Amino acid sequence: MALYSEKVMDHFRNPRNVGVIENADAVGEVGNAKCGDIMTMYLKIDNDVISDVKFETFGCGSAIASSSMATELIKGKPIAEALELTNKAVAEALDGLPAYKMHCSVLAEGAIKAAIKDYYDKNGIAYDAKQFAEGPECAHCCE
Ligand code: FES
Repeated sequence: MALYSEKVMDHFRNPRNVGVIENADAVGEVGNAKCGDIMTMYLKIDNDVISDVKFETFGCGSAIASSSMATELIKGKPIAEALELTNKAVAEALDGLPAYKMHCSVLAEGAIKAAIKDYYDKNGIAYDAKQFAEGPECAHCCE
């Protein structure tokens, strides 16, 4: 069996929504000091709906595929729904990731959450800090 699904390979080779939104309403960046992977999400938000999203990922193929899929999953969705997106859902939408690469999908979830937190902070919107507890870690990356 191939290590990576066709969807992973497709999103790795042809990532959707790559780039920067210059006048983004929110920006979230997460990184892992150990493997050096960095992911940045840019959101445009209109009436609590994510009207546009772009990402930049400096990292492994699984991180790029996860970011790409995650942007597709949240585009056009209300913020509240994007907040519910888990790394498991991203991996499932990619038809799976090898177990030791699951942590790469955690970066995508974390970058989205960091961007939404940025939006809340900038706009003085109250939130439960627990929703944004601890950023993602990919502790097993480069061991
Ligand atoms: Fe994939 Fe760190 S995010 S190796």
